[in-house]
Amino acid sequence: MSEETNFLTLDNINPYIIELQYAVRGPLFIRANEIEKEMAKGVQKPFKTVIKANNGDAQAMGQKPITFFRQVCASIAHPELLNDPTFPADVKHRVETILKACNGYSIGSYSADLQGLEVIREHVAQFITKRDGFACSQDDIILSNGSFESIKIVLGLLKCTIDGKKPGVMIPIPQYPLYSAILTEYNMLKIGYFLDEANGWSINNTELERALNEAKTKHNANPRAIVVINPGNPTGQVLTKENIQNIIKFAFNEKLLILADEVYQFNIYAKDSEFHPFKKVMKEMGEPYSSMELVSFMSISKGYMAEGGIRGGYTEITNFHPQVRAQLLKNISASYCPNIHGQTVIDCVVNPPQKGDPSYDLFEKEKNAVLGSLKDRAKLIYDTFNSIPGYSCNEVQGAMYAFPRVEMPEKVIEIAKQNGQEPDEFYAFQLLETTGICVIPGSGFGQKAGTYHFRTTILPQTDKLKEMLNHIKEFHAKFLKEYS
Ligand SMILES: Cc1ncc(COP(=O)(O)O)c(C=O)c1O
Repeated sequence: MSEETNFLTLDNINPYIIELQYAVRGPLFIRANEIEKEMAKGVQKPFKTVIKANNGDAQAMGQKPITFFRQVCASIAHPELLNDPTFPADVKHRVETILKACNGYSIGSYSADLQGLEVIREHVAQFITKRDGFACSQDDIILSNGSFESIKIVLGLLKCTIDGKKPGVMIPIPQYPLYSAILTEYNMLKIGYFLDEANGWSINNTELERALNEAKTKHNANPRAIVVINPGNPTGQVLTKENIQNIIKFAFNEKLLILADEVYQFNIYAKDSEFHPFKKVMKEMGEPYSSMELVSFMSISKGYMAEGGIRGGYTEITNFHPQVRAQLLKNISASYCPNIHGQTVIDCVVNPPQKGDPSYDLFEKEKNAVLGSLKDRAKLIYDTFNSIPGYSCNEVQGAMYAFPRVEMPEKVIEIAKQNGQEPDEFYAFQLLETTGICVIPGSGFGQKAGTYHFRTTILPQTDKLKEMLNHIKEFHAKFLKEYS
């Protein structure tokens, strides 16, 4: 590397990319990887393995893929497998249906429809229609390489300064840092609204109004949209129907586009919780709300499927003006088409084996085993955290995370300040170095000043999770002894 050949420097690349932060893959994640490498070289640590509870990647933590999905994926890439007598007939039928829709009967060709294969979008539309009891059109469905891609494209639509006012988007605090990262890259204002921890991380309209007014008066912003993550990441709440109705009314009054991030819609655990899709609630509310614009996101990376590496998701755009929809589609057309394996898994998710199909029993068994175990782990983690003095944790009603609040001794706050760290970052680093457990400090997601949290996934398999929780309990007791 030299000045003669390196024309790109930190002074002349996009400053917003330098500014953006992504805590989930930030310094703790980097250090966890370093520790693993040190251990591989024989460096002794006070623990046997690193437990990566930082990332919502279930298969990395031992979750098994669904057999039907993988049989379809394998034979769609290598159709000779269709001659394998152990592959059930419904796998073959599925593969043939999708391959027939592919140009040249091959997944190596670009798909003709830039929104994704029509036959799969039809299945998505049927799934949503059945789920909500309101019609969904395949024309309103866009398939993508994971939801991140489509969230970025939709937010890109709003990236325009009008009357000298910077565009702003309301995002929850704590929030999944994907949103803050995209908004930073786009130089759009992040209008943070606090979730109400004392009320199960619900969303409060007084707080929404406070955040919006502050953005308008203090930052001369033009608020364009509100992001709602339901079920929540990192907070694990499932919103009630009433809460969603209030958000819809607020968005209507303030002329905001609603972005409903519903990627965890299959991950519901609490007895009293139910997933209410924004689209359904909006339609049930009748006019004028039922005609509002809405974008909702779904992914194959979560739920019981957890196929994040295959990259697939679908987006439903509701009530868009045809001219705006055309511009959105034009913008995605440069990428030709989402990958066919991702589209294939979406097809399996929205149109799984039905009763009487040869794959049905195994599919149901595998799906229920994953969701049942996640439910048990959600309860285990909630009960354990609330048994630790100085910890409090809301119920993990859904998604894949717990976000406990931890009381920090004054001494820790002081030391962290001297180190230029957040107190919960200091805590998470100490936890990692002493136990090998990698969690993400609450400051990476945002939190009320003076409160400290961390996010852990509920994804380690049950025995590992029990071991992890015991270590956290012991660590916390020693930590308090040392720093109180
Ligand atoms: C709330 C939320 N939205 C979107 C995503 C992006 O998922 P993907 O791009 O894998 O679909 C994630 C990933 O963890 C997430 O937690």
